[in-house]
Amino acid sequence: MAPGRAGARGLRSPAVAHRVTLIPGDGIGPEVAAATQRVVAATGVEIDWVVQDAGEPAIASEGTPLPDRVLGSIEETRNALKGPITTPVGTGFRSVNVALRQELDLFAAVRPSTSLPGTRARFDGVDVVVIRENTEDLYAGIEFEMGSAQLARLRQKLRVLAGYTVRTDAGVTVKPISVWGTRRIVRFAFDFVRRNGRRRVTVGHKANIMRFSDGTFLFTAAAEAAGYPDVGFEELYVDDLAMLLVTEPERFDVLLLPNLYGDILSDLCAGLVGGLGMAPGANLGWEYAVFEPVHGSAPDIAGRGVANPIAMVLSAAMLLSHVGESSGAEAIREAVRTVLMEGRVRTRDLGGTAGTADMTDALTAAVRAGLG
Ligand code: NAI
Ligand code: MG
Repeated sequence: MAPGRAGARGLRSPAVAHRVTLIPGDGIGPEVAAATQRVVAATGVEIDWVVQDAGEPAIASEGTPLPDRVLGSIEETRNALKGPITTPVGTGFRSVNVALRQELDLFAAVRPSTSLPGTRARFDGVDVVVIRENTEDLYAGIEFEMGSAQLARLRQKLRVLAGYTVRTDAGVTVKPISVWGTRRIVRFAFDFVRRNGRRRVTVGHKANIMRFSDGTFLFTAAAEAAGYPDVGFEELYVDDLAMLLVTEPERFDVLLLPNLYGDILSDLCAGLVGGLGMAPGANLGWEYAVFEPVHGSAPDIAGRGVANPIAMVLSAAMLLSHVGESSGAEAIREAVRTVLMEGRVRTRDLGGTAGTADMTDALTAAVRAGLG
């Protein structure tokens, strides 16, 4: 246990609050983060939020979107709840989200999509979890800029080594996938199936085309699967998987995907259950856990009080389960189901006219009613 945490426990004993880093983020982040704090407070679970600005407010005050204090805080508290953060395009800043996953080695993204009542989803009965490898693949950050001296040298090497002439007006991104990196996410996925009473892992890949990157992912997964005879295992080409997800999504249970396919298909799965406003997520490593909605900072609706806070609220429920507060977590999930089922309060993405505050009021009232 980290010294900071042991100290905090000593001070507060016996009624221990959980210390959790809260990164409100930017765009709609601060709005849905404040909403989430209220809903969590209604459960009575004591959280000592350590608030850390990142993204646009940090760029404005400190010149960087991810100051060291943010990482330091997560290293101390171990767990974080994070709002979305804008990735400025073409400014030289890398994605804070990708940087956090790499710095803290949060190698597994877990994104459940479960049908809920009262949404505009086209299906009910969907209950899939995307488990996405979070550190390798085209997200590794191995990039060569068009016209750069490095790319000139790489082009020369590729001509010799691969017999391929990269056009001079090309930019290049490299896709590494290792046995080591794949094995840990595969084991994580199979253990997840066992821990959560699920049945089957489906791997999506294009090992027919990318034989040495996706091929490594597939063969490593298949080899590990042999050690889990109690868990079903199937593999599908990712394009085939995409089609089956929008025609018969009920047949899928746990999807195990390399980084980029996982990014794309987790948004698709969010769409299956009513959209990004409903989709929670977790980024997990051996040491740290960062919970965050799947959606981004939604600049088109930021600052207007209309964002749906449910994705971030459900991310907080995942956090509560993770820190052992399962009844608080269940109280939140039940409140979300109740409010959606009643259908009186619906945000605009759900076809209603309610704002973030209305939804938050409804959720906190439902949490209290459920516990009362
Ligand atoms: P986005 O998820 O922010 O928005 C896509 C669409 O969904 C928009 O129409 C938006 O209004 C809507 N939407 C998203 N969340 C909603 C909510 N809670 N309630 C109601 N409607 C919601 O994706 P976009 O526009 O591609 O990205 C915006 C920025 O966010 C970019 O800079 C991107 O890099 C960043 N981003 C950050 C993520 C993170 O922090 N983990 C994840 C995804 C994107
Ligand atoms: Mg994404």
